[in-house]
Amino acid sequence: MIEFPDVAKGVIRNHYDIITPFYRMFWGPHIHHGYWEGGESSEQAQIQLTERLAKIARIAPSSTVYDIGCGMGGSSVWLARNLQCQVTGVTLSPVQRMYAASAATLRGVKPRPKFLCADAEKIAFEPASADVVWSIECTEHLFDKPAFFRKAATWIKPGGRFALCAWLAGEPPLSQEQIALTQKVCRGMFCPSLGTQADYCQWFEDAGLKVTYQSIWTKQVEKTWEICLERVNRTGIRHLAKVFGANHVLFLDHFQAILDAYRTGAMEYGCFLAERGGQ
Ligand SMILES: C[S@@+](CC[C@H](N)C(=O)[O-])C[C@H]1O[C@@H](n2cnc3c(N)ncnc32)[C@H](O)[C@@H]1O
Repeated sequence: MIEFPDVAKGVIRNHYDIITPFYRMFWGPHIHHGYWEGGESSEQAQIQLTERLAKIARIAPSSTVYDIGCGMGGSSVWLARNLQCQVTGVTLSPVQRMYAASAATLRGVKPRPKFLCADAEKIAFEPASADVVWSIECTEHLFDKPAFFRKAATWIKPGGRFALCAWLAGEPPLSQEQIALTQKVCRGMFCPSLGTQADYCQWFEDAGLKVTYQSIWTKQVEKTWEICLERVNRTGIRHLAKVFGANHVLFLDHFQAILDAYRTGAMEYGCFLAERGGQ
């Protein structure tokens, strides 16, 4: 695991409160990487990542799903619309909660997802109440990742699953340059730590879940940052970000770092499915 303890939770919340309208304008309703198979648009690639995770997780229609770190509700709405899931989305950001709830209402999504503004590290759901815990690119922001996995595992019904995508620290051993590059990404993207693929497997297993799928998708997702860099340079959004404070400029300035980290193996992008035994 690569650690960067200087990140504060309030800064993560503030980042998503401020930047969410910009994500919506420049990327779309999903705040996650796209998954490319060919020359698809970025919108299509984002949906492909969601579809792929849902397929790997074998989500049955009408499942109860907790979408942890739900952003603007992109996955929650997709799961409700396409699989009639009963979804509860959780986000740290009150602005995102409002965006997600409005999007679901305005689009007449049924069954209507519920959105909560809460800290995933503090929230409690009933034991064995979810068919699936779903989390795309949120656990990077958590401070005590093993504790979160132990708690989330208790929410899953016997026979249920935890489907997750996350930015990862690269396969060890990393050189000093690779470690410095990963820490630079942690700083710019507000991640107190990044786990390796092996760390995630260990956290799942220690929580009593069996990892049944794990895959590295770095090559399929890295185009995300080429597109984001091009959009930042073309639109001059960096000047606008200055108005909102140094942290937001810092974030934009780290797009090249994450691309470099992927290209040099300092970081990877991983997908996991972990299952709870019993039925
Ligand atoms: C990169 S975005 C991903 C959003 C969403 N999963 C998606 O794919 O569109 C990270 C999300 O994690 C949320 N997050 C970060 N730390 C959190 C915490 N401690 N509790 C709940 N949500 C958190 C942020 O508010 C944001 O919604």
